[in-house]
Amino acid sequence: MKKYTLIGPFFQVVPMTGLPLKGAISDTQNQILPEAGILIKNDTIEAVGNFTELLSKYEDAHLIKLNGQYVCLPGLIDAHTHICYGGSRANDYAMRNAGKTYLEISKSGGGIWDTVTETRKLSMEELAQKTIERANHHLKNGITTLEVKSGYGLSVEEELKMLRAIKKANTITAPDLVSTCLAAHMVPKDYHGTAEAYLNKISTVLFPKLQEENLTNRIDAFIEENAFSKSQIAPYFEKAHDLGFDITVHADQFSTGGSEVAVNHEAISADHLEASTDKEIALLAKSNVIAMALPGASLGLGCAFTPARKILDAGGSLAIASDHNPGSAPMGYLLAQAAMLGAFQKLTNTEVLAGITYRAAAALNLKDRGKINTGMLADLCVFNTNNYNEILYNQGSLKPCMVWKNGTLVFD
Ligand code: NIG
Ligand code: FE
Repeated sequence: MKKYTLIGPFFQVVPMTGLPLKGAISDTQNQILPEAGILIKNDTIEAVGNFTELLSKYEDAHLIKLNGQYVCLPGLIDAHTHICYGGSRANDYAMRNAGKTYLEISKSGGGIWDTVTETRKLSMEELAQKTIERANHHLKNGITTLEVKSGYGLSVEEELKMLRAIKKANTITAPDLVSTCLAAHMVPKDYHGTAEAYLNKISTVLFPKLQEENLTNRIDAFIEENAFSKSQIAPYFEKAHDLGFDITVHADQFSTGGSEVAVNHEAISADHLEASTDKEIALLAKSNVIAMALPGASLGLGCAFTPARKILDAGGSLAIASDHNPGSAPMGYLLAQAAMLGAFQKLTNTEVLAGITYRAAAALNLKDRGKINTGMLADLCVFNTNNYNEILYNQGSLKPCMVWKNGTLVFD
């Protein structure tokens, strides 16, 4: 085995380095590397630079010579999904388009609870298999790191089953799966007690098990009418914080309140934000909470997009994720959705790419990915084109032709 692998020449490498974590970014700030090569050692990037210079310096490297025109981005990161589930909510989609709202369907007994019923019918192995199939779909679309939430179990045992399924799937899938416990998705309809009692049970019984079995270090909650209120969630997040979990919040999807919870509890991200007003935007922008837009939920529900332009102009950090789930966001094509958000919200291509690379990595507290730079994991997403602007211009129809994960070619 040779010590190094050299891939190239790429027509352009878009390293996403030297760019800020927060605030607006112009396309002129994006330093594109022409005629570049990427040198890999094991699973890590050793060097990035002019291909000919790298070739002469590392002449005994294993050479993967690219013939043609290729553009290389960092492996894409989808930092918010719910791809571990059973069933389908195609009938909810039809009902919504015929005039019922998401909250009306939920109040009449459908919605999330319907997916809970279908998910509980599956074994851990069956759920792991479904998660693997969906993660492979994302891999073909350039995603090398994928967050996956529980939240369709809604009891100690059923949430454990989901998180064990995600852990098992992670041992098999090429993309890294980052799990999150979303036991606070709604009060389960079969729980005989108050919302406070349910949350107390989860935090006292499930949280220690999550740590014992190393199932996740992230806790999420849905702050909304029909889910949990600011005051109900406060002791839950305090417990999570005390135990050292990272916190993330489903915030301001239909009504406001969640982003304030995210800021007060020092969450790593506040996700959705479709209903955020200037007040919430200002609050988020002056905090360290990363705002996460989920254009797939706007498209699935036919709702407004997250005010991404305003968030960036106020100085906030913006990640973009697919929210792939059976209810509000069944599509599951991050690149297409991010491109559409860019067109509707007037985001620069660099802001969109930042949202699905290094800013998404920051939302998962991962410092080893999201950029093409020495020391970063060799996670690469390659397109057959001679202009990186073609990628978003094609709004998802230009697919990656090669994907590398930890220095290994996993899709071509
Ligand atoms: O992020 N908003 C709450 N949770 C999910 C939807 C889950 C579902 O409807 O099954 C979301 O949109
Ligand atoms: Fe979600």
